[in-house]
Amino acid sequence: MADSKSAKLLVEGKEIELPILSPTAGPDVLDIRKLYGQADVFTYDPGFTSTASCDSTITYIDGDKGELWYRGYPIEQLAAKSHYLEVCYLLLYGELPTEDQMKDFETRVTRHTMVHEQMHNFFRGFRRDAHPMATMVGVVGAMSAFYHDSTDISDPLQREIASVRLIAKLPTIAAMAYKYSIGQPFVYPRNDLDYAANFLHMCFAVPAEPYHVDPALARAMDRIFTLHADHEQNASTSTVRLAGSSGANPFACIAAGIACLWGPAHGGANQACLEMLREIGTVDRIPEYIAKAKDKNDPFRLMGFGHRVYKNFDPRAKVMKESADEVLDLLGVHNNPTLQVAKELERIALEDEYFVSKKLYPNVDFYSGIILEAMGFPTSMFTPIFALSRTVGWISQWKEMIGDPQNKIGRPRQLYVGADKRDYVDLGKR
Ligand code: SDX
Repeated sequence: MADSKSAKLLVEGKEIELPILSPTAGPDVLDIRKLYGQADVFTYDPGFTSTASCDSTITYIDGDKGELWYRGYPIEQLAAKSHYLEVCYLLLYGELPTEDQMKDFETRVTRHTMVHEQMHNFFRGFRRDAHPMATMVGVVGAMSAFYHDSTDISDPLQREIASVRLIAKLPTIAAMAYKYSIGQPFVYPRNDLDYAANFLHMCFAVPAEPYHVDPALARAMDRIFTLHADHEQNASTSTVRLAGSSGANPFACIAAGIACLWGPAHGGANQACLEMLREIGTVDRIPEYIAKAKDKNDPFRLMGFGHRVYKNFDPRAKVMKESADEVLDLLGVHNNPTLQVAKELERIALEDEYFVSKKLYPNVDFYSGIILEAMGFPTSMFTPIFALSRTVGWISQWKEMIGDPQNKIGRPRQLYVGADKRDYVDLGKR
């Protein structure tokens, strides 16, 4: 990054010069690393709306144009022409693989899809009605109790093995969480199936009869994985980075990311969005909910709408909307009432001054639930599917940070507005 430019700041009469760093794409950044030392002041930015927490070469988002690139490749092209494991290779290593590199990577991932047999016991400690995200946080965190040969983060080889293990085992763990919640036996991964087909097989096959994975559904599942793979410094990725900055092992860091993703303002929005669409139920009830979303005194928000970065259409939502039509047609689900409500809600909202003025558009979570429900998943599995898809993004960002010699523990400061210094008062004198 060229840093020939600078900005001048006047703090109580003292002039501070701040270098300006220029990116490959996107806004310049003010380098404030020396600000506290030079001017004895902090910057203040709750929610980090104007703060770059790191430099990264992995994913770029242009919120105004509605663009998303993985390692420079637009998401629309990757969703149309690539496949998830190739996208995993691209995010992890920075370049599209050659045929040999792809075969080697696919073999390495395939051969790590089983979990240690002892891990099956963890599931039995949960209630059957536990949310699968609760199970996943617990079981993924427990991986650090099993895979000690890939927890030394100072060893690049162990970082590599841990990355492949996480990408390979997350679908198996997510499928096990689903099977446990419906009282069916776990289905082992199969090495003759590709990544998405294997996940569908582990979720929907039963020992009592053969299960055929529809290649078109597997393709749709694979595309959903790709659309969710990474997204710059979102809340859960920032959680993984902050956890990793202390030197915590990668399994614990990914468990922290899963916990953060669960929130309805983040990855939990796909479940909340479908439940909202079901609650609206019919097109004639949409105006009532639009009014609730606009009412300052009503905490209700349109789930699947709005985004911290996108002030234009989320490019993933566009691809997901096309995919929803394809999958529902494939499944012979015509005039799906939820999809009709979603499309009409999108149309009405995008014409409404409130949403237009606040630049609120459908995001990745608006259509994904409709596809997943049509594929046979319960709403409780929507965020686990987001989590397994995002694991490659989390671990790629974690590897980038750990591999950076400048890496240091993340430790923000604060604006203290509490009580001033005061002396203790004995109980009898209060
Ligand atoms: C994801 O960061 C990422 O990249 C995340 C993600 C990823 O891939 O990792 O893209 C995945 O999390 C997508 C977002 C999923 N969440 C939802 O769909 C939940 C509903 N959306 C909102 O909660 C909200 O839009 C956020 C949380 C997504 C963004 O919130 P911001 O950036 O903090 O914006 P804000 O809350 O300050 O809202 C700005 C204004 C506010 O009104 P004013 O105070 O200015 O009057 O817009 C309003 C908000 O009230 N607003 C909404 C709204 N979202 C924002 N009003 C109604 N419905 C909404 N959905």
